[in-house]
Amino acid sequence: MNRFLALIWILAGSVSVFAQDITTLEKIGPVISLVKSDKTITLNCQDNSQVQLTILAPDLVRVRASFTKPIPARDHSWAIAKVDWPTPRWNLSEGSDVITIATDELEVVIRRSPLLIEFRDARTHRVLNSDERPMSYDTNGQLNSMMFDPKAGMFVAASKRLGFDEHFYGLGEKASRLDKRRSSFVNWNSDTPGYNEGRDPIYQTIPFYIGLQRGVAYGIFFDNSYRSYFNFGQSSQQRAWFGAEGGEMNYYFFYGPAIKKILGRYADLTGHMPLPPLWALGNQQSRWSYYPDTMVEEVVNEYRRRDLPLDVVHLDIDYMHGYRVFTFDKERFPDPKGLSDKLGRQGVKLVTIVDPGVKQPQDKNERYHAYDQGLEKNFFQHRRNGDLFVPRVWPGESVFVDYTMPEARRWWGDLHRAYTDNGIAGIWNDMNEPSDFVGQTGKNQLDVVSYDEGEKTTHAKNRNTFGLLMARATYEGLERLRPDRRPYVITRAAYAGIQRYSTMWTGDTNSTWEALALNIPMFTSLGLSGEPFVGSDVGGFIGRGNGELLVRSYQVSFLAPFCRNHKVIDGYDQEPWRFGKYYEDIIRKYLKLRYSMLPFLYTTLEEAHRTGVPLFRPLMLNYQDDESTYNLDDQFMIGDDLLVAPILKPDVTRRLVYLPAGSWYDYWTNRKYAGGTMISVEAPLDTVPMFVRAGAIIPTGPPLNYVGEKPVDTITLNVYPDDTGAASTTLYEDDGLTPAYKNGNFRRTTIIVRGGEALTGPVEGTYNPGPRKFNVVVKSGPRR
Ligand code: GLC
Repeated sequence: MNRFLALIWILAGSVSVFAQDITTLEKIGPVISLVKSDKTITLNCQDNSQVQLTILAPDLVRVRASFTKPIPARDHSWAIAKVDWPTPRWNLSEGSDVITIATDELEVVIRRSPLLIEFRDARTHRVLNSDERPMSYDTNGQLNSMMFDPKAGMFVAASKRLGFDEHFYGLGEKASRLDKRRSSFVNWNSDTPGYNEGRDPIYQTIPFYIGLQRGVAYGIFFDNSYRSYFNFGQSSQQRAWFGAEGGEMNYYFFYGPAIKKILGRYADLTGHMPLPPLWALGNQQSRWSYYPDTMVEEVVNEYRRRDLPLDVVHLDIDYMHGYRVFTFDKERFPDPKGLSDKLGRQGVKLVTIVDPGVKQPQDKNERYHAYDQGLEKNFFQHRRNGDLFVPRVWPGESVFVDYTMPEARRWWGDLHRAYTDNGIAGIWNDMNEPSDFVGQTGKNQLDVVSYDEGEKTTHAKNRNTFGLLMARATYEGLERLRPDRRPYVITRAAYAGIQRYSTMWTGDTNSTWEALALNIPMFTSLGLSGEPFVGSDVGGFIGRGNGELLVRSYQVSFLAPFCRNHKVIDGYDQEPWRFGKYYEDIIRKYLKLRYSMLPFLYTTLEEAHRTGVPLFRPLMLNYQDDESTYNLDDQFMIGDDLLVAPILKPDVTRRLVYLPAGSWYDYWTNRKYAGGTMISVEAPLDTVPMFVRAGAIIPTGPPLNYVGEKPVDTITLNVYPDDTGAASTTLYEDDGLTPAYKNGNFRRTTIIVRGGEALTGPVEGTYNPGPRKFNVVVKSGPRR
């Protein structure tokens, strides 16, 4: 993107905190009557507003408010996966001042006048979260100066009392630190190349956050796709508020107190991530762009020649015929099927980029099937006046599909036959904010109307869900086209619920140390927002990196679910060997380590699928009671057992590492440390400080150049005994490729080691992994 445009976007995108004053808004009126049904109470207010509280589970309550009019009958969200919840046990008591809902876990106390909602723990009656003022709305247009499109809707807001030591986490993809206290954010999916810390908004919208105070956590999912705002006490000592430029006040309140429990419920509500194919955990290489086909082969050969593991190569936009999606350039890629077969024999898969912009032929006689069919079927977006909406993207003048139409999604999904017939293994959805070079702010699209399940709404509502629905169309298409294979989709833009359809990467980062340091809070925050399969362009996308930066970047990403080196068209080459043998050798060490850890990584990934608890975690997720972890974002954990503390600055070879309670083994030396303290460790360039929790077992497999290269017939159980000499783990295995795991075709083995002897405990599932032996290696080392 051109720098001038980028500057304008920065200026237009920044919202002054002073404009964010919700205290002048109209407040919802007091409660005058109440209607109770199976799991809902509806409150009628003096100003004709209505509030609905629905008890979905003992720890999950939905709050909906409609200002000065009844709650609309239509209730639809693209984010929600589960609408039918069995009614939990609950009761209602009505006093003259307050109405109280009680479940086994939560107590919701509603003050009638003014209308204030308070959530408490049902057992301790401790306040978890309470309204600082009644829910508010902007009838008089007081926030018009801040609003992006004042005509699109009415600003709605909810304001909560800010706890003195309350911490805030989540909100999906934000270029910010882990703890979001004292910050404010805007959600408006935006193409933001070269973003740095503080740039907001960027590509995705996940309006879900977790509040944590004195070890007790709750969650709030504000399911509103309009441009939304979250202010965690940035401009006030009293309040944390959220609001949106239209749509409903509609939020879900989750009670923990454990964050892991909240993430599980959030996954139940918005969908669990399905397992991608196991090879998606393999190493991936990309470039804008590798072409022609012989260059792709060269990249793969180079990987193999240099003994660097590789599973996937990405084809960026230049594989297409003039950037026409669903085509291949006949000169550059005359035989895509032949190419994918050939690479397949070397254990490498191809992923192709697919952007939303469908090129509009400039010559009337030109036939382009995707354009012609979409036009004929009336699947493209239009302006309110009926004109076709024509944004400009890589192909020049283009059109976008209205993915809110089910038939359009189906058609788009089916078009992927052009790829599956050619052996393409996965799809990379990019530019789906949607990016428009005519204007990145979205101003040029404000009058674009979407079908939206018959509701016919404008860009203000549909922008933030565009990427979600495009990824959905892609995922469902791949599922139909190849029912016996797990789809693999990567997306840039998203809305809540995206984990049902796609993995993600963090877009166009810089090749700088600052951007590298941002990887950790971004990956962990995404994990705390229901998106477990995350990663970043290894080495950074824009600018000139160097060997040291690339090595340190791999030392973060070799354990991230998505591990892909990618680079901008005019950037310096940065494949692992480009800075010389010294650096390449270190990178090889980490890529090989990743492959040997696949049994451990896959087990942890399956946990994310099943429980919603991510693989790549901030320490506070595992040590929720430990305040020292609350804003620790230069370290991370993989699952419960592996702690990693990378170097994120140049020319640094020593750092402080925080070890939480318990005992820890230095991964490299097996030296044992007592936790609950900071230690200082050596970290020369070839070493990333890593520690294993005492009591853990890290299962590893044989060295591999790619997933499936040889049978995993020996699994090494790397045992790190606790003080009693015991350790345990579970090991998850399945075919790694088909959806059969969904029907129980997997094996989960509990392994316990005591006194050097391995006992396999209960086994779940029907999958037969074939003959394989467990090799027990008990670690011991000096104690410190
Ligand atoms: C966008 C993507 C980037 C890609 C480029 C060309 O900038 O974020 O990854 O290489 O477009 O397709």
